[in-house]
Amino acid sequence: MNMTVDEILKQQILSREDVIALLQTDKEGRNKVFTHAAKIKADYVGKKVYYRGLVEMSNICSKNCYYCGIRLDNTNAERYDISDKEILDAVKFAYESNYGSVVLQAGEISSPKFTKRISKLLKQIKELSNNELGITISLGEQPEEVYREWFEAGAHRYLLRIESSNPDLYYKLHPKNQKHDFETRLDCLRSLQKVGYQTGTGVMIGLPFQTYEDLANDLFFMRDFDIDMCGMGPYIEHKDTPLYEYSDLLMPIEDRFTLTLKMVSLLRIIMKDINIAAATALQAIDPIGREKAIKVGANIIMPNVTPGMYRDSYKLYENKPCTDEEAADCTNCMEMRIGITGDDIGYGEWGDSKHFAKRTQHQS
Ligand code: 5AD
Ligand code: SF4
Ligand code: FES
Repeated sequence: MNMTVDEILKQQILSREDVIALLQTDKEGRNKVFTHAAKIKADYVGKKVYYRGLVEMSNICSKNCYYCGIRLDNTNAERYDISDKEILDAVKFAYESNYGSVVLQAGEISSPKFTKRISKLLKQIKELSNNELGITISLGEQPEEVYREWFEAGAHRYLLRIESSNPDLYYKLHPKNQKHDFETRLDCLRSLQKVGYQTGTGVMIGLPFQTYEDLANDLFFMRDFDIDMCGMGPYIEHKDTPLYEYSDLLMPIEDRFTLTLKMVSLLRIIMKDINIAAATALQAIDPIGREKAIKVGANIIMPNVTPGMYRDSYKLYENKPCTDEEAADCTNCMEMRIGITGDDIGYGEWGDSKHFAKRTQHQS
C-alpha cells in the first residue's frame, strides 16, 4: 500500500521513491512537506536569513548554454563590464549596509588577465572591509590553480551550478563540445572542495525534458556530493535562446514555481544544515517568491547591489526583478520583506554553512 505524506515524513531517511512521491503531492500534502522543512530549518540553522550583496560584474560570456539570455551567440544582449571602481563602490555599499557578505558573479571568462583582475579585486574587498566581508564568487569553470589563487586572495565560497545531474539532460541544455562538458563541470566542483571552498551547486527546475525522477536524483546528487550550499530556481524561458523552441513542453510557470518550493523544502529535509538560497528567479514569477522560499527552508538571500544602469542587461531570463532599482531601494524593501517571513536578518554576519564546519571538522 502507498504511504501517506505523514508516514513518509516520519522516516529518518527518504528513499528516491519517497522524494518522487513528495514532488508530486497536491496542495494538502505539499503544505505538510513545507511545515516539516520549516521546522527542520528552525532546529538546525535557526530562523535567520543571511545577506549576500550581489554584484553582477559583467554579462560578457564565452559560453553558449541553450537556456541563457547572455549566451555568447545572443547578439541582442547589450554587453557591459563594470569598472573595478564601480564594483568596489557597490561592495562598499554592501559593507556599509552591514550585509556581511558579497557575491561576485559574471559570465564565464577564462584568461590570465581575468584571473589577475579578480585576485586584485578580492584583495581590495578584504582591505576596504578590514577583512570583515565574506566573499562568494560565481565565475564558472576555471582551472584548479585559478580556484586556488582566488581562494588565497580571499574568496571562501564558490557557486557553480550543475544545472542538471543527468548527463543526457545536461546535453539537451548545452552544446556537446569541449567547452560544455559535463565531466569537466564535475571535476571543477571536486577541485573547489579540494581547494577548501564552501562549495555550492544547484539546478534549474521545470526544464523541458526534465522528469520528477531527474529532480529527485538532483537532490541525491547534492547529498552524495556533500555540498555546503545550494542555489536553485525555476527555469524561465528567454525568447532569444535555442531552448525557447521547446516552450510548449513546459509546465505552467506557476507549477514550476511551486515545484521549486518543493525542491527547496525537500533539500532542507535531506541536507538539514546546509545554506540554501532563495533564488531571485522565484521573484520573477511571484512578487513574494523569495520570501515564500525562506518560509519553507531557504536561509540565504542575495540583494542586488549592481549599479542600477547595468541591471537590466544581466538578463539570464525574462521578468528579472529589481532592474529599475538602485541598491539602496532594495535594502529598505528587503528588510520589510524578511520581516514578513518572521525570520531575523543576520546583519554583519558571514552566515557560513554549518554543514561546511562539520564536514571539515570531521576531516581534521
Ligand atoms: N532561467 C532560469 N535560470 C537561468 N539561469 C540561466 N538562464 C536561466 C533561465 N533562462 C541560471 C543558471 C545559471 C545561473 C547563473 O542562472 O542556473 O547557473
Ligand atoms: Fe554564460 Fe552562465 Fe549563461 Fe552559460 S549560464 S551562457 S556560462 S552566463
Ligand atoms: Fe529590490 Fe525590492 S528587493 S526593489
